[in-house]
Amino acid sequence: MTLLGGRSILTAQQVLPPQMKEAPAWVTNAFTVAQAQSEAMYKEVMKTKLLPRSIQRGLQPKTDWTAGFFPGTLWYLYAYTREDTWKTRAENATALMKGEQNNAFDHDIGFKMYSCYGNGYLLTGNKAYRHIIFRSAKTLTSRYSYKTGLIMSWEPDTKRDWLFPVIIDNMINLELLMEAYKISGDTTLRNIAVSHADKTMKYHYRKNMSCPHVVDYEPETGALRKYDWNNGSDDTTNSTWSRGQSWGLYGYTMMYRETGNLRYLQHAEKIADFLLSHPNMPADMIPYWDYSAPHRSKMRDTSAAAIMASALMELSTYSAQGKEYFEAGEKQLKSLSSPTYLAKPGTHKNFILMHATGNFLRSSELDGALSYADYYFMEGLLRYLKLINGKELYKVAEL
Ligand code: GLY
Repeated sequence: MTLLGGRSILTAQQVLPPQMKEAPAWVTNAFTVAQAQSEAMYKEVMKTKLLPRSIQRGLQPKTDWTAGFFPGTLWYLYAYTREDTWKTRAENATALMKGEQNNAFDHDIGFKMYSCYGNGYLLTGNKAYRHIIFRSAKTLTSRYSYKTGLIMSWEPDTKRDWLFPVIIDNMINLELLMEAYKISGDTTLRNIAVSHADKTMKYHYRKNMSCPHVVDYEPETGALRKYDWNNGSDDTTNSTWSRGQSWGLYGYTMMYRETGNLRYLQHAEKIADFLLSHPNMPADMIPYWDYSAPHRSKMRDTSAAAIMASALMELSTYSAQGKEYFEAGEKQLKSLSSPTYLAKPGTHKNFILMHATGNFLRSSELDGALSYADYYFMEGLLRYLKLINGKELYKVAEL
């Protein structure tokens, strides 16, 4: 155990999963498919120096918000196999992202850098990665406003009448700040993450625990201006964009782990309860693109399912309702691992999961594959394996 910033953390080596005694056939099959697809994808990445985003948009430059997820998937395959080949591949793909540590264009630096450098650091303890994580977190804080108490996700936009837009996805980026806080002891990083999480908890959620994609704030006072959409349904009174609900569930579960603040745990439990009892949750638990709008389309989103399943695995370890959450996450992972959603090796442009939806109303990346669906699927399976083998996932921070 190492002490940094006044709290204890797991060292990198402790995070490497121990050899798993028990792995059901559906899990080993999913990892076999993932390895075949990712090996082929890795060759494309190294040839082009671009990173996979989706079937429809193919490979993209490292500035794309999704660029860190494929290197992150390679780190998870290293965690599963513990083979040096996967480690080298993960290191090579991660190195492509280095320049992004100074990119303050939007909040996506958290997605981009934690998924590759964060996982790489946790799995190897590589000291050079620590500096990059810290620098990336500092870059993210340049988007924080002390007036609003929030990180501005995107730039103001006159066409959309956005002055200080915050999207629910931003909760995920707080993990980069918390990791950098543990590395450096810089409490400003932690305080910014806590402020953003608190304010989002207060203003982004409706009474029934659903949330819209976008909330716009008054930049001088931090007062709420309006609910809006960019993804999910455009009915901002009811829109319950499925991936956004999963981002929130994951974000508050993670913030409980990182702070020990029970309010975050309770918030995550309420989100989970809302989603698990939702009348529009399909029987196989792979959500439609928006829980509020299956009458418009019943298109599924495997990315929403994978993020939710991974979050439920973690939440199950903290909550009194743990058994229910674990079983729900297990059901989602099993569905994702079935031939209905798992790609056949050599197909689907080397992505792992099928039937993921980027943005339904904008007709963008429909019913295809998304690199972040694959990344959270791998993470969820690794968490599942650890839990069924009786291993600890994370230590919760002491307040
Ligand atoms: N963070 C963007 C999305 O989930 O579509």
